[in-house]
Amino acid sequence: MTDSGLIRFGIIGAVGRGSSFVEVLRAHPNAELVAMCDIAEDRLQDKASEVGVELTFTDAEAMLESGEIDAVIVGTPMPLHVPQSIMALERDIHVLSEVPAGVSLDECQQLTIAARCSTATYMMAENYCYLRENVLVREIARAGLFGELYFAEGEYIHESKELNEVTRWRRQWQTGINGNTYPTHSLGPILQWFDDQRVVSVSCVGSGHHYRDPRGDLYENEDATITLCRLSGGGLVRLRLDMLSNRPHNLTYYSLQGTEGCYEAPRGLGDQPKIWLRKDARGILEWRPLWDYYEAFMPDFWKHPPKEALEAGHGGGDFWEVHDFVSAVLEEREPPIGIDLAMDMTLPGLASQVSIAQGGSWVEVPDSRDWLVTPK
Ligand SMILES: NC(=O)c1ccc[n+]([C@@H]2O[C@H](COP(=O)([O-])OP(=O)(O)OC[C@H]3O[C@@H](n4cnc5c(N)ncnc54)[C@H](O)[C@@H]3O)[C@@H](O)[C@H]2O)c1
Repeated sequence: MTDSGLIRFGIIGAVGRGSSFVEVLRAHPNAELVAMCDIAEDRLQDKASEVGVELTFTDAEAMLESGEIDAVIVGTPMPLHVPQSIMALERDIHVLSEVPAGVSLDECQQLTIAARCSTATYMMAENYCYLRENVLVREIARAGLFGELYFAEGEYIHESKELNEVTRWRRQWQTGINGNTYPTHSLGPILQWFDDQRVVSVSCVGSGHHYRDPRGDLYENEDATITLCRLSGGGLVRLRLDMLSNRPHNLTYYSLQGTEGCYEAPRGLGDQPKIWLRKDARGILEWRPLWDYYEAFMPDFWKHPPKEALEAGHGGGDFWEVHDFVSAVLEEREPPIGIDLAMDMTLPGLASQVSIAQGGSWVEVPDSRDWLVTPK
C-alpha cells in the first residue's frame, strides 16, 4: 500500500479484457494502477504509455515478485486464471479474477485451498451480478415479494464463431469442450436471488452439432446446451449456453418464479424487464415494468451512481465489482463473491461437462466448503 493508503494494482492480460479496468482503477479514490502485464509486448507498451503506467511486464510472476503491487486483476484467458491467482495468493497479493474461476475440478480445489491459506482477499469478477435489473430483482427477492423461490432460467447466447478465431483460446476452452463452459454470467445473479442456496447436481444435454470452424472441424461444444441445476433448497434452474447458433445475441436473459410472483428479462425488440407480483396484481395477465419497484427497492449505490459507473462496461458491472473488491480489501472483510461463491458459480459448469459426456445423467456438484486446508 502507498503511504497515502492507496492499494497498488497490477493487471495481467492488460491489453485484452484487463484494459476494461484501467479507467475504473484510475478513477477509484483508494486505488492506484501501477503496473501492467501482457505477453503482447508491443500493444502493452502502447497501452501503458497511453494511460501513463510506467511499470510493464511480459511475465506475470515477475510482476507479482516485484514488490510493487498489493492487488492484481487477472484478465487472461480462462486456463490461466487459477495458476496466476494462486501465484498471487501465495505471495499474499489480493486477487480479482475474471470468470470462470477455473477450468477443472482439480485446479478449482487447489485455488480454494490457496485462497484459504492466504492472508490476501480473493474475489471472482462476476460483473453480471451488478447489472441494475439483476440487483433490483435480488432486492425484491430478498424482501420476500416473490414468495418462496423455486424456478429460474439464465441464458448466455453469444454467437462467437469469429471471435473464436481472434481470441484462439476460446476455440479450445469455450467451444472446444462440450457442456456449459461459461456458466457464471447466467448462474451468478440467480444464485444471488436464491441467497444461501447452491447447485447440488446437474444434468446437461445438447442440441447436436450444426456448425464447422474455418478449418472444417465441427465444434466440440453442441450448439445449444441446456443444463438443469437442482438447488440445495429443492428448486430448479435451467441454463442455456449457446456460442454458435446464427442469431442475435442475448447475454442477459433471466427469469425467476416464486409462489407469489415472477420476473422475466427482455428478449429483444423493445421488450422491457417485467414483473408480476400477486400482491399488486390487477389481473393474472398483466405484467408491470420492473422499474415500478425502483424507488422502493433499488439500493442507493445504483440510485446515485458516479459518472464512472455509468460509463463503465457491462452496464456498470465492471465499476461496481472493483468498488466492492477494494472495499473488502480495505475493510478486511469477505468480498461479495469470495472463493466459495466463486466455486458455486463455476463448479456446476464443470459438472455439466461430465454429465453431457454421460448422456445427460445427473452429476453431483461438490461443495467447496468441504475443501478445507489439510493440517500439516
Ligand atoms: N466478465 C466479462 O464480462 C468478460 C468479458 C470478456 C472476457 N472475459 C474473460 O476475460 C478473460 C480474457 O478474455 P479476452 O476476451 O480479453 O481475451 P483476449 O485473448 O482478448 O485477452 C487476453 C489477454 O491476455 C494476454 N495473455 C495471454 N497469456 C498471457 C500470459 N501468460 N501472461 C500475461 N498476459 C497473457 C493476451 O496477450 C491478451 O492480451 C477470459 O477469461 C474471459 O472469459 C470476461
